[in-house]
Amino acid sequence: MSASCVLEEQQPSNPYQYQNQNQNQNPTTPHETRIIFFLHINNTRILLPKSTGTKILKSSDLGQKEADKSLLTSRKLRFSLGLFCTLSMDNLSLPEDALFLGFDSSTQSLKATVLDSKLNIVTSEIVKFDLELPHYKTKDGVYRDPSINGRIVSPTLMWVEAFDLILHRLQDSKKLDFKKLTAVSGSGQQHGSVYWKKGSSTILSSLDPKKPLVAQFGQAFSTKESPIWMDSSTTEQCRAIEKVVGGALKLSELTGSRAYERYTGPQIRRIFEKQPEVYNNTERISLVSSFFASLLIGGYACIDHTDGAGMNLMDIKERVWSKQILEATAPGLEEKLGKLAPAHAVAGLIAPYFVERFQFNKECLVVQWSGDNPNSLAGLSLNTPGDLAISLGTSDTVFGITMDHKPSLEGHVFPNPVDTKGYMVMLCYKNGSLTREDIRDRCADKSWDVFNRFLKQAPPLNGGKMGFYYKDHEILPPLPIGYHRYTLENFKGNTLDGLVEHEVKEFDFPSEIRALIEGQFLAMRGHAERFGMPSPPKRIIATGGASANHSILSSMASIFGCNVYTVQTSDSASLGAALRAAHGWLCKKKGSFMPISCMYKDDLGKTAFGCKFVATVEDSQLVAKYALLVKKRMEIENRLVQKLGRK
Ligand SMILES: Nc1ncnc2c1ncn2[C@@H]1O[C@H](COP(=O)(O)OP(=O)(O)OP(=O)(O)O)[C@@H](O)[C@H]1O
Ligand SMILES: [Mg+2]
Repeated sequence: MSASCVLEEQQPSNPYQYQNQNQNQNPTTPHETRIIFFLHINNTRILLPKSTGTKILKSSDLGQKEADKSLLTSRKLRFSLGLFCTLSMDNLSLPEDALFLGFDSSTQSLKATVLDSKLNIVTSEIVKFDLELPHYKTKDGVYRDPSINGRIVSPTLMWVEAFDLILHRLQDSKKLDFKKLTAVSGSGQQHGSVYWKKGSSTILSSLDPKKPLVAQFGQAFSTKESPIWMDSSTTEQCRAIEKVVGGALKLSELTGSRAYERYTGPQIRRIFEKQPEVYNNTERISLVSSFFASLLIGGYACIDHTDGAGMNLMDIKERVWSKQILEATAPGLEEKLGKLAPAHAVAGLIAPYFVERFQFNKECLVVQWSGDNPNSLAGLSLNTPGDLAISLGTSDTVFGITMDHKPSLEGHVFPNPVDTKGYMVMLCYKNGSLTREDIRDRCADKSWDVFNRFLKQAPPLNGGKMGFYYKDHEILPPLPIGYHRYTLENFKGNTLDGLVEHEVKEFDFPSEIRALIEGQFLAMRGHAERFGMPSPPKRIIATGGASANHSILSSMASIFGCNVYTVQTSDSASLGAALRAAHGWLCKKKGSFMPISCMYKDDLGKTAFGCKFVATVEDSQLVAKYALLVKKRMEIENRLVQKLGRK
């Protein structure tokens, strides 16, 4: 495997800092200066090891404080470093006929993507929960508990049956040779948790290949209902945990987020308080991600560092469980959680069950599964701090990368799943696709085409009509269910001075649809700016089911003021998981972590990860007008939070 590489010389702060010790130390006599080189491989900066990358260059000028730049670009040097890079990468290339499988267990479906060694898509599959497993009687993949405000769960066994089904689909399609599968990994909806009943490790390790999984896991869980990310029933537990550790900001500093209702720590505390028999009868708690990895290895898999940061339990700097928070959450928790592992680590070998039932290669590695947003970050090859990704799935999320963790009362920080040092930052909205569907069904004959026609019919800025649509309790801002509509009198887009808003009961259908779409993106832009995300972003890469809708992406470009791109599939989470499977396999082969960008070869565009341009800013004046509208929206939103928000 070759890579496009660019050299960079490190500028020593002290010009003699890297001077060769064996040479004359006197700066006024001829000497050789040791220069440290970094190699940039597709945007990743690697310090070259002394033996291979560091060169002793002769400086001809006695007092020269800096090596001659022309030496650095000399052909000979470039050749030797290029050779070093090519040789190293060749040793670490993916086997030519190898295949890599990535799953994504999301809110409404289970998806799979298979990549070949050139990182192109071989095949993909999807199982939709409501439609294809109707006997679980879920709506949008979940149960909304009518008796407890905000309690939302999914049947754990449905995920198991969906796994049986998708594996059979992949087998029946004849597009996947399981024998060629070299590594498999996956993505799970973040925060959701599974409670393994005492004794279930024996079930996991002694699966009968003649029977489907669903027939063997009926008695494996101490509760049949997994709390998921949509749940908002744990406000009391959140406040209690924050109090024990010294407040919300302290918890954010420790774990990357203040306490959130959907986070696994508060969910576990609630189960411990309300269903102590369930808690006591549980030998292991998995996240959705580590749950599926456990099925694949036939034993309990670790929780990975990135998804682990979505629990309010992990010390994000040290990447270990925080004993203080574990104690504040529930007794004996550490034992039930098992160990943490990096996202690129191998969880184990594929279990014999899958080898016998589906003819997996018995050498196939299972790489740690992680959360869906972290996997999307990998699938969108997001590695530049100025870029933003927006996922329009059941939830909407906005995420990017950063090198530091700044504690905040809003948004989330997770370890970057494909970089051992950096972080990913994220905002999450519960009212994403399901709210868009609700308004589509009411105003646009249940058709996305009609929806798009109406969206175009109402002009940008919507004549000052603005809406806040919360079909479910919102996460950001923390507002209850409710729709709020306002008209801004005389709004021309030039000033906010003297602007008065009036609350109204309804809009005409086109205005309702534009108010929804503009409202969602104005909120994202306002929150992203407040959180310190790049504004305007260099570009946005959009993903998730609704990223198939170009009318929606066009509004996104106008409101954020930048170009919008997509990748080859709207399911970047399973795509990223397949890439991480290959990455984990390479790291294992190398014996240590390597940057994931080393895998993109010379040209990202030749792989499934190449970005496709879809929308641009058509009117730059409009971007400035939206900036004013963002301000106004934040003002109204703050008032709504003061009046109605969760405390
Ligand atoms: N053309 C379209 N326009 C707008 N929305 C669409 C379109 N096609 C699909 N969608 C939306 O995509 C949603 C499903 O997206 P996706 O598969 O990314 O969700 P998910 O992965 O289950 O959710 P999450 O990642 O939040 O768990 C559907 O609810 C649907 O409303
Ligand atoms: Mg998804």
